[in-house]
Amino acid sequence: MLTELVRRTLEQLGARTDVLDLREHRLPQVDVRYHGSPEDPPDPAVGDLLHRVRAADAMVWASPVYHNSYSAALKNALDHLAIADVRGKPLALCGNGGRRASGQAADHLRIVARGLHGIAVPLVTTTADGDFRRVDGEYRIAARETIERAVAMCQQLLDYTDRFRTAPQDAVGVAAPASEGAS
Ligand SMILES: Cc1cc2nc3c(=O)[nH]c(=O)nc-3n(C[C@H](O)[C@H](O)[C@H](O)COP(=O)(O)O)c2cc1C
Repeated sequence: MLTELVRRTLEQLGARTDVLDLREHRLPQVDVRYHGSPEDPPDPAVGDLLHRVRAADAMVWASPVYHNSYSAALKNALDHLAIADVRGKPLALCGNGGRRASGQAADHLRIVARGLHGIAVPLVTTTADGDFRRVDGEYRIAARETIERAVAMCQQLLDYTDRFRTAPQDAVGVAAPASEGAS
């Protein structure tokens, strides 16, 4: 529901969105043999992930808080990516915790964003299970503050996207280093 709030907000602000839900988009466990050539794994779900990530000017990474961090499913998806897939892209980070809204998932994702040379925007949106109400069989976000925060985060993401719009490397005369690693 939090992801849906963010998606709708981005659309209202003029963005086109594509939601990749890892419950439905099942990915194989990352295979180290393909590290550095992520397009090689034969599984079409990986190819589809790469295609959609590469088509995106910006991304929102959202996860439940699992044991004080983000989910293993999201980490596995991110491990299928290479730095080139994320470098220079603005990222917004969201997390939902059980009892209390907690920044742990988003904060840990910020470190991963840095490793992939992404630009995580400062604002995050976090919720807890209690922020949602079931109305007419559907979950709704009950906290106005959450909605206001999501709007501010989405505005910041689109602002960063305009400012840091990725240009092809050769168009700006910057050659990528021969070997890059997270640090
Ligand atoms: C394995 C597991 C670990 C969890 N650990 C935490 C936690 O450390 N802190 C927390 O606030 N909630 C924790 N929760 C609760 C979930 O964050 C919360 O119920 C979840 O965000 C609901 O979304 P979901 O149904 O998409 O998983 C945990 C849930 C699971 C399944």
